[in-house]
Amino acid sequence: MSDIETTIKRSKVPAKPKRSPAKPTDAALAPVITIDGPSGSGKGTIASAVAEHLAYNYLDSGALYRVMALASLNREIAADDVDSLVELVMIAPVTFKRSACGGSDVLLEGEIVTSELRREEVGLRASQIATIAPFRTALLDRQLRWRRPPGLVADGRDMGTVVFPDAPLKIYLTASAEIRAQRRHKQLIEKGIEANIVGLLADINERDDRDYNREIAPLVAAADAITIDSSTQTIEEVVTKVLDFAGNRL
Ligand code: C5P
Repeated sequence: MSDIETTIKRSKVPAKPKRSPAKPTDAALAPVITIDGPSGSGKGTIASAVAEHLAYNYLDSGALYRVMALASLNREIAADDVDSLVELVMIAPVTFKRSACGGSDVLLEGEIVTSELRREEVGLRASQIATIAPFRTALLDRQLRWRRPPGLVADGRDMGTVVFPDAPLKIYLTASAEIRAQRRHKQLIEKGIEANIVGLLADINERDDRDYNREIAPLVAAADAITIDSSTQTIEEVVTKVLDFAGNRL
């Protein structure tokens, strides 16, 4: 055996550099409180109050679905045009900004559209396109990016089941359809908008039906969620409950 061969055989194979176990990023460590439930159950009000108390970030995922719905209506994209809807998620210039009054504003193409998003037509369109699997998948990444320190409160339909399944605290907020229609009616009348309670109840039932029965990410309480029925409770009572649970779990 030549010297060279011996040298090669005897030379130690350099030890593989030891890989330190993948460190979870700050974002992955940030705690998440998910609040899911049907339209009008008070999720948005409760979630933003909880986020404010804890100084957490707040994701209103319904607003994300609604702004895509509005963009699709503006661009005259059909509710079943899957490719154009998925492309819309990639190209629609959407931003969320803190508003002057402390809430948050949604901007589409640089214009504030926050109140336009509440139109019934936009809500119905959102619930139609929300049944499309590739569209939901395209929106997933945008939602995950909201998870940042010190923590996140996320409200929607599938926050605890699909988007943040590892959230340490999951709330499922319900209220009867009649109570939800009455609340919506009161909100609209207070804003000086004419409203018909029978029509509102029909819209709520139609949207519930679609949200509960769709094949992808249907509205359902996560197995480890705490259910709160807000029908007979005030906002303050529900917020206090959620903060108590947060105090015990986070
Ligand atoms: O919560 P909000 O009523 O604003 O949501 C509008 C619609 O968007 C819902 O009716 C639902 O169909 C859809 N949505 C969803 N998943 C979410 C949030 C909203 O499917 N996480």
